[in-house]
Amino acid sequence: MTQKISLTRYLVEQQRVDGHIPSQLRLLLEVVARSCKSISQAVNKGALGGVLGSAGSENVQGEVQKKLDIIANEVLIEANEWGGHLAAMASEEMDGIYVVPNRYPQGEYLLLFDPLDGSSNIDVNVSIGTIFSVLKMPEDDRGVDEGDFLQPGSKQVAAGYCVYGPQTTLVLTVGDGVAMFTLDREQGSFVLTRENVQIPADTKEFAINMSNMRHWDAPVRRYIDECLQGKEGPRGKDFNMRWIASMVADVHRILTRGGIFMYPWDKREPGKPGKLRLMYEANPMSWLIEQAGGAATNGRQRILDIQPTQLHERVSVILGSRNEVERVTSYHAQTPA
Ligand code: AHG
Ligand code: MN
Ligand code: MN
Repeated sequence: MTQKISLTRYLVEQQRVDGHIPSQLRLLLEVVARSCKSISQAVNKGALGGVLGSAGSENVQGEVQKKLDIIANEVLIEANEWGGHLAAMASEEMDGIYVVPNRYPQGEYLLLFDPLDGSSNIDVNVSIGTIFSVLKMPEDDRGVDEGDFLQPGSKQVAAGYCVYGPQTTLVLTVGDGVAMFTLDREQGSFVLTRENVQIPADTKEFAINMSNMRHWDAPVRRYIDECLQGKEGPRGKDFNMRWIASMVADVHRILTRGGIFMYPWDKREPGKPGKLRLMYEANPMSWLIEQAGGAATNGRQRILDIQPTQLHERVSVILGSRNEVERVTSYHAQTPA
């Protein structure tokens, strides 16, 4: 019988055999995974657990918070604050950073998360998820502040997401490829179900919210126009479209079978660089995609190279199968910014 490899064992081996992760980071990832299990339980209960619907409040980005946005945020904070591995946390649902209270030991890591991604899908029983990114405190830093978080995505030491769908799947990178773990509810543990995930370089599937078409910039319009022309057009092949409106679920599909995902800048609010948030949505997803052989840009720059200036900064996102992302990027290069 082939032995099942649990997340715990995978992390121990990453630490021991491959030397990729120090023990504090291993503990941190175990705690994040435990939080995801607990969020998954709440998601599964749905109406029976009284977790659906709006919380009647707004977050710093002016979005209405759902009950599950707040529950997931609290689960992650409470699970992570006492272990001694973190200095501070930042979340989509909190204005400022959350410094580990001084009754607990402070560690050297910083954790960022989108506690519940795809909030518009909660009440309609469609896949949602949690996205997380781990950074290290800058060396010789005395006292943690928001500035410590403002590091480019290339500095991440771990990143991942957990998708709550027909299965609960945790997807992780510590810089050694992408591994997927499926939650075994009877055992209560995540079991390794895919390793060394690789995205095909070419695809016939794109994901974009087409209702925004009239607001797009010329390079994005051109790319989608060409896809829509199918076999008869310049691409010489038919394309398919998917848009789940949960970035976790769209990225999970792309990691599983390829594709391109775009939430580009558009003219609705020209001052905003995009809809998605750089530090806890775009950065972790971009690193996963790159680790799986794909690419991620804002049209003009590699996302992981962007130097953030604000915690809740937004960014234009184009990621997925390498050749398609490069094509969209080349269309941007042919159009002055
Ligand atoms: P969140 O629920 O964390 O605010 O994120 C939702 C994001 C992302 O998951 C998704 O791709 C996108 O918003 C959907 O936006 P539209 O409703 O504009 O399509
Ligand atoms: Mn989100
Ligand atoms: Mn969210």
